[in-house]
Amino acid sequence: MSTTSHGAVAGETTRRRTFAVISHPDAGKSTLTEALALHAEVIDEAGAVHGKAGRRGVTSDWMEMERKRGISITSAVLKFAYRDSVINLLDTPGHGDFSEDTYRVLAAVDAAVMLLDAAKGLEPQTLKLFDVCRSRRIPVLTFVNKWDRPGREALELLDEVEQTIGLRPMPVTWPVGVAGELRGLIECSTGEFTRFHRTAGGATRAEAEIVPAERAAAEEAPHWVNAQDELALLDEIGAKYDETALLAGTATPVLFGAALPNVGVARLLDALVELAPAPAERVDVDGLPRAVDAPFSGLVFKVQAGMDPSHRDRMAFVRVCSGRFERGMVLTHAGSGKPFATKYAQSVFGQQRSTIEEAFPGDIVGLVNAGALRPGDTLYAGDPVEYPPIPSFAPEHFAVVRSADAGKHKQFRRGIDQLDSEGVIQVLRSDLRGDQAPVLAAVGPLQFEVATHRLESEFRAPVTLEPLGYSVTRRTDAAGAEVLDRQSEVEVLTRRADGALLAVFANKWRLETIRRRYPEILLEALLAGSADAAD
Ligand code: G4P
Repeated sequence: MSTTSHGAVAGETTRRRTFAVISHPDAGKSTLTEALALHAEVIDEAGAVHGKAGRRGVTSDWMEMERKRGISITSAVLKFAYRDSVINLLDTPGHGDFSEDTYRVLAAVDAAVMLLDAAKGLEPQTLKLFDVCRSRRIPVLTFVNKWDRPGREALELLDEVEQTIGLRPMPVTWPVGVAGELRGLIECSTGEFTRFHRTAGGATRAEAEIVPAERAAAEEAPHWVNAQDELALLDEIGAKYDETALLAGTATPVLFGAALPNVGVARLLDALVELAPAPAERVDVDGLPRAVDAPFSGLVFKVQAGMDPSHRDRMAFVRVCSGRFERGMVLTHAGSGKPFATKYAQSVFGQQRSTIEEAFPGDIVGLVNAGALRPGDTLYAGDPVEYPPIPSFAPEHFAVVRSADAGKHKQFRRGIDQLDSEGVIQVLRSDLRGDQAPVLAAVGPLQFEVATHRLESEFRAPVTLEPLGYSVTRRTDAAGAEVLDRQSEVEVLTRRADGALLAVFANKWRLETIRRRYPEILLEALLAGSADAAD
């Protein structure tokens, strides 16, 4: 049993900042992650976090397929100390086809950094991810990146954020010099000016120099005058920082910078420490809050196999929600009531793992050999608690999967079970099709590639896929299924993970026709992975 006092847990919790970066591919998420870690002095050189082409060291892109395709599917956790705080940065998959995975990661954070490319502003994937943040009431800080390159005007970008997603921008820093001619950043609350000098290569920190306002006005005119005009305008329209609005999800602090030359990155870390919320009590399935200093509880938000090719094991990523985690604790799995031993608790940094002895709310613990755990599960010690499940997305792509080798049925079944419990892809079944031919259902087609690749490489179970012509999913019930089973261009399938009955339709029009003809049957929308899946 823990000997740590409630006060110690509360103190450790207050120091934690757990967040993820949401962005459109290429906005600079990997670059920013590296730059953040560089400032925190966890690593001494940019390039050590993500193994993108040409970069060195620890990689979170550990799957062969990811490397080939240059996409990041699997998530790494980066934990580092900054000032007095402990920062947990959770990586999210870069590709929209893995939105469901991203959604799960966002279930484990207390804040998000929305990263925008100064030349592009809000892009489709950012919008989708922002919607997830909004639905989960995650406070969002905005970082406008690549200010060292030509881009759009600062005021125009703020306007876009306000008009498109309804978040009132609250600038924390303001650029002096248009995008592509960055001179430095003004701290909006104090008026202090920091000038940046680029260093060669870009992989080291840009040098920063604090310049008094009078000198800046003389040396940086006309950029300075422009910036002051813009700030005056912002003052007039009331863009002042308001913590309540940030926490309520109606406003976003905005910072400008450039991750590649490391401009404004330390300021972003400061903003995270100063503005982003520490872990707070989490509400359970019954709507009751569990205080952060209550006995241990944690939420499994990700299950990952094959992370380490030399150990074919399976790791569950658990976000600590309350209490102190101590390696060796025996926890209870809320779903089954079974005990769960935590002897093999690890922290994961890219591909490196190390044993973790203790953790506090906001931290991420990796539990090895977590065969019984699936995303959304709760583990606890002491008073029982169960957190709400993480909702699944509405699949939009469907294919029947069959073993291509009659002698490999056992491997095939094991592989399908594994992918299902990790939540790599949704597995649906029907009596009609039988267990030899389950239906794989995906939010995006790349999920099929991951699934078949893993079945073949990890389970030695080559498969064939037969695409099905469905694209719209609704939840139904037994009464609905009875009616739908008699219709064409619709099929009712059972999701293996939770037994949900899913009605899949050829298209929206087919759904509408049936809905009009049988208004009494249940056809409930699921979380949409893309804009066209919504009603
Ligand atoms: P992602 O993870 O969001 O997909 O983006 P990533 O960090 O890989 O950045 C995408 C491209 O944008 C990279 O260039 C990266 O160097 C560049 N970039 C990121 N931040 C900045 C910035 O602040 N300023 C400038 N000028 N460029 C930035 P690339 O040539 O496509 O890739 P790479 O070969 O450098 O990896």
